[in-house]
Amino acid sequence: MADTSHTAVLGAGTIGASWTALFLASGRWVTVFDPDPGAEDVVRAYVDQAWETMSQLGLTERGNPDRLTFASSAAAAVEGAGFVQENVPERLPIKHATFAEIEPALAADAIVASSASGLTLGQMQGGWSNPGQFILGHPFNPPHLIPLVEVMGNDRTNPGVVPRAEAFYKDIGKVTIRVNKEVPGHVANRLQAAVWREAIHLVLSGVASVGDVDKAMSAGPGLRWAVMGPTTLFSLGAGAGGLPAFCDHFTDTFNGWWDDLGTPRLTPEVSATLAAGLAEATAEASVADLAAERDRKIVRLQQALNGPTDPPSSEEG
Ligand SMILES: NC(=O)c1ccc[n+]([C@@H]2O[C@H](COP(=O)([O-])OP(=O)(O)OC[C@H]3O[C@@H](n4cnc5c(N)ncnc54)[C@H](O)[C@@H]3O)[C@@H](O)[C@H]2O)c1
Repeated sequence: MADTSHTAVLGAGTIGASWTALFLASGRWVTVFDPDPGAEDVVRAYVDQAWETMSQLGLTERGNPDRLTFASSAAAAVEGAGFVQENVPERLPIKHATFAEIEPALAADAIVASSASGLTLGQMQGGWSNPGQFILGHPFNPPHLIPLVEVMGNDRTNPGVVPRAEAFYKDIGKVTIRVNKEVPGHVANRLQAAVWREAIHLVLSGVASVGDVDKAMSAGPGLRWAVMGPTTLFSLGAGAGGLPAFCDHFTDTFNGWWDDLGTPRLTPEVSATLAAGLAEATAEASVADLAAERDRKIVRLQQALNGPTDPPSSEEG
């Protein structure tokens, strides 16, 4: 069995640098390949900066940031690695060229996971002579902070590869879901797209401002959705009767709302309307400030979610 204490990261931009930090935090050796001559400095700085955040999340107990090396080619990077995370640009010819280059250099049972957001597993399998060890392992940005990974294999994937990949991801602190069928955007991006479509529709129809639509999500359903998914939550919405009672009670309500949802398109005019609304809502805060606020709050939320669930009762002791 290939040694997953040795990993490789191919392409170390936004996503690859973050995976690198997380793999190091889990105690893995990481060999990175990125053709950009400035990549090594950027990745090392990124790991330094991410380490503190990962420590706050309890992810670095086994970690060692010094187990990081850089290779001069993708083939050299994957040598001896048991798990390879591919994060090269989202263009099929680049993905295919990378797979063709690494395939002869891989250990026999090494797993290669692609972070691809838009390309499908089937499209990417075209770059392999034998794609048996190749899967989709789609993260959320930044992977060292957001737990979800969407994992997918198909009938061309060797038996046992998907469960082994899931075990690897679990060991480094990720939460995985399995995608059973090829669709554009996998699962979570489709959910985000569905919600954002209606958010835009509400703004364009004058129902509420950009700031208030965003607030409606983050102060309302968004907070609950960090704890449980929508079907579980709705099963709690009609008392002891659970989900069947909820569906029975709200059949006409939901069918009516669904019939009324909007179908806006992203155009330059829509983009300008949203940007103006956002500038007003955020008092023109900079992207860097908003990103820092987001990351700070996500860390606190995760600490709360993963901390002790049963505080000692005041009657104890
Ligand atoms: N950015 C996101 O929010 C996000 C989220 C999930 C998944 N993804 C996926 O991750 C992958 C990478 O996206 P990104 O946002 O990190 O892109 P990016 O442009 O930030 O990084 C790509 C990196 O690949 C390097 N590169 C270029 N050619 C290469 C090659 N032949 N071999 C190795 N490295 C090469 C570039 O120098 C760059 O550092 C894409 O498939 C994307 O769909 C992105």
